[in-house]
Order: sequence, then structure tokens, then C-alpha cells
Amino acid sequence: MIFELNNKKPEMFSGDLLVYFIQETEEKTVPCPSKAVRRALKNAWKSGDFIGKEGQTFLFYPSASVKSPTAYRVLAVGLGKPADKNDTNALREQIRLAAGTAVQQTAGQKIKSMMAVLPEETGLADKEVAECLTEGLILGCYCFDKYKSKKDDEQEVVKIESFSLQAGTLDPQAVQEGMRQGKRAAQAACQARDMANEPGNGWPPAKFAEFAQRLARKHKLSCEVIEKDAMQEMGMGGILGVNQGSAEPPKLVILKYQGGKKKTDPTIMLVGKGLTFDSGGISLKPGQGMEEMKYDMCGGAAVICAMQAIAQERPKGINVVALVPSTENLPASTALKPGDIITHYNGKTSEIINTDAEGRLILADALAYGIETYAPDAVIDLATLTGAVIFGLGHHRTGLMATDDSLAEQLLAAGDRAGEPLWRLPLGPEYSKQIKSQVADIKNTGGRGAGSITAAAYLQEFVGDTPWAHLDIAGTAWNFTEKSYIPKGPSGIAVRTLVDLVRHWQGKKKKG
Ligand code: BES
Ligand code: MN
Ligand code: ZN
Repeated sequence: MIFELNNKKPEMFSGDLLVYFIQETEEKTVPCPSKAVRRALKNAWKSGDFIGKEGQTFLFYPSASVKSPTAYRVLAVGLGKPADKNDTNALREQIRLAAGTAVQQTAGQKIKSMMAVLPEETGLADKEVAECLTEGLILGCYCFDKYKSKKDDEQEVVKIESFSLQAGTLDPQAVQEGMRQGKRAAQAACQARDMANEPGNGWPPAKFAEFAQRLARKHKLSCEVIEKDAMQEMGMGGILGVNQGSAEPPKLVILKYQGGKKKTDPTIMLVGKGLTFDSGGISLKPGQGMEEMKYDMCGGAAVICAMQAIAQERPKGINVVALVPSTENLPASTALKPGDIITHYNGKTSEIINTDAEGRLILADALAYGIETYAPDAVIDLATLTGAVIFGLGHHRTGLMATDDSLAEQLLAAGDRAGEPLWRLPLGPEYSKQIKSQVADIKNTGGRGAGSITAAAYLQEFVGDTPWAHLDIAGTAWNFTEKSYIPKGPSGIAVRTLVDLVRHWQGKKKKG
């Protein structure tokens, strides 16, 4: 897909679709010298059919002439009422939504090339306008049709091949930079959606390893894959235990980006749950809706895809290491059983009460191993960990639990900027008490109440003093609040939040 800045005047654009974004205000003047376009918009305005409301669109086919050439189609998209100028996150979202609406309109139409004229006087910096518009366009036209075989009588679906942004009076350099940032982050999120859309048999743990190795070669990252025999040697009883019932070998995939040259430069560690299919194991899940558990790898996808964007962006003075423990969770005569006791990488023993609480088991090993190996300044794990988070927050916010206030605040801010809001829940000794076991150090479920927090309390046992945050994305990784730029299915949640976090990272610098 081509994405470029175009200095051509909009009226000289002769492609398939020209898009204007219009605020809901009293007077409407469109910055387009084409008379035909101006007249059509004025009429739509006068009739009340199109007044720039959020989500409103108006598509027309102006007749071009030599004197007044224009694109074949023109689309006006409403931005809504001008948001509070101090609420830049609301403004950012307004632009993403409108861009998503624009590309949704093109679905089913024969549109290959599109030019979007950047809205002016939005209250945002020029760079942000371009960034959010680009994100909305790319995220909004996402579609996964890899497994659909085309039928002869079906008309061929036309996809947009080239987007151009027209900067208008905005600073072209800022627009260029914003466009690049938006593109990197949004394409990475679409990549995460692709991984999630793959079925269990299309995306076994080995695929995470292959993808990471390819990414490392392409973008100069270092990649390491810890295989089953090495896990056995190191005593990663959590990943191995969950994998016991599966014919697919487990993988612990590690990707490292080195942007810091100084010893004092911070290292952020990301850990993502890469459960490629979660049947529940011996504590089998009900059949209804079980197919959705192919999405149980969305944490892993978010982490690997964030690394893709970070590797393209190459921020200086910061290191990022990502770990994805990956396996299936299936019932078999060899599978882990309720009552079994496993030993994790750090030597802690755990009584298995429910084999369906498997995410914490694989994350525990990855957290303990990663912290010991990379001594990070901060750790963030992401997982579709508990159904309970959906009871608490619905599909609108990701659950955040953290041992460090500064880390939590940075994540909350990044989520707000990205339009992927988080909500912090508490941790504490009362919750940790719920997972004490009679026969082992801890047990893998916390009984009734606070299911998301007791899951986090389990992970907390493996992070020591390192500042740590846990994101429970079970409610947001799919069926996330539907928006123009978030289609049904996997959302690609947290990729853009993580990229934004790294862009804005403010860490306490390491001493010495
Ligand atoms: N992958 C699931 C969590 C999940 C449930 C994600 C529904 C998305 C939608 C996780 O492995 C799981 O099964 N958790 C159990 C934990 C329980 C057994 C303590 C749950 O939430 O029911
Ligand atoms: Mn489970
Ligand atoms: Zn799971």
C-alpha cells in the first residue's frame, strides 16, 4: 500500500476519491477552488442533509470540466462539533474516527486511489493531525480474507492501493513525520490483527518464532527462541506444564531492540501471553464460543508487533526486550491435571487448581527468566488473562494492575493518547492471600471474587522489586468497543499504546 504526502492541489487530483473532513459549525466553506465541489457541499449543507456531524458522510460525483477538474468522487466526512481544545486526546480520537468513517465508505466501491485533505484549525499540532488521520485510514480499511476462496460469479473486491495526504496550509514536514508515525503504529496493529485472525491450526507457537526471526533479520533486532529441551534444562515448569497435553512444541520467543548506547539507558521489558489455543485443558471450557480462544495469543501478538513498529522507528537512548511464551492448552492423557504441583523457573511451586488458569503459568516463567536475564528497569506484561475483567470493565477498557505508580501513570497516558483506555485496579496483600496453597507455595486460582486481581497477584510473585505493570486485555483484544476504525474481530489492542509509551518514555535513569 502506497502512502504519500501529495502537494498537488486537491482539485488537480484525478484519482478515484477525494475526501474532505468537515467540522460541525455554522458557516461552511470548503477550502477547494473547484466550483462544482463547493456548490454541492453548500447545497447539502443548506438542505440539512450534511452538516458535519460525527459519523455523517456525503458522497457525490461532481461533473468535471477543463476549467474545473476534480476527482471522480468526492466524499465529505463530518468531524463533529469542535472538541475542547485542551482535550487533545478527544481531538485525536475525533480525527481517527472520521478517517475510519471515510474508508468504511469506500468498502464495496471501486476505489483504488484516494486523497485526503487534512482538516485545518483542529486545535491539534500538525503532526498529530497527520498521525491520527493516517492511523484511522489504515486501521479502518483492515480486512482479513486470506481464507476466503473467490467464487467465479463474485465480483472482484477492489482495495485501496494508494493513499495521499494533502497538507493544505499545515507544515509539510510535520505532516510527513506524523504520517510516518501513524503508519508504523497502525500497520503494526493490523499485523497483530492478522496474527489473531489466524486460526489455531494456522498459527501454532512455531509461527511466533518464525515471525520474530524474520522481523529480526529485516530490522536488525536480536532474536532468540528457547526450545522445549532448553526449557526442561532451565526448569520452566509453567510453560512445560501447560504444553504437556499438546502435540505442538512450546516456544519462548525473545526479541531485543538496542537503541541505547550508554549503560544508563533504560531497558523496558514486554511480556505477552501467546496461548495459540486455549481449550481450558482437563478443566475443559464449555463448547459454546470456544473457537474464540484462538485469540488467546493477543498479548503475544501485541508485544511482537509493537517491536515491529519500534524497530522501524529506532528510538535512541532506550532498549526494549520482548518475550512471548507460547503454547496450546489442550486436554490429553499427558495433560496437566487439577491437583498437580509444578515448579516454576524461579523455584516457586504452584498447585494447579484449574488447568484453565494457564496464562499465569506460562507468564510466570517468562517474567522470572526475563527479569533475571535482562535486569530491566520496568516490566509490562499483556495477556487475555481473565474473563473476570470483562465483568468489571466490559469491552471498553483494559484492566491495569501495577506495582509502580509512575509506570501506571505513563501507561494510562499512553492508552488515552492512543484511544485505547485503561483502568487501574488495586493489588495488595489481601489479594495475594487468596492464592496461598496448603500444599505448595501458591495455587493458580484465587477462589471467588477479584479474579483479575488474584491472577495479577499470581504474576506478582515472579517480578520481585522490578517496577511492573500487568494489562489484562481479555475484554479489549476482540469485541473491543466497535468504532469506525475498529472492525469486528480482533482489535490489535495495545500495540499503539506500547509504541506511544516508548515514544514518550520517562524513566528514572539507572545509576552507574
Ligand atoms: N484465556 C482465558 C481468559 C479469557 C476468558 C479471555 C474469556 C477472554 C475471554 C484464561 O486462560 C482463562 O481461562 N481464565 C479463567 C481463569 C479461571 C479458571 C480462574 C477464567 O477467566 O475463567
Ligand atoms: Mn484458560
Ligand atoms: Zn487462556
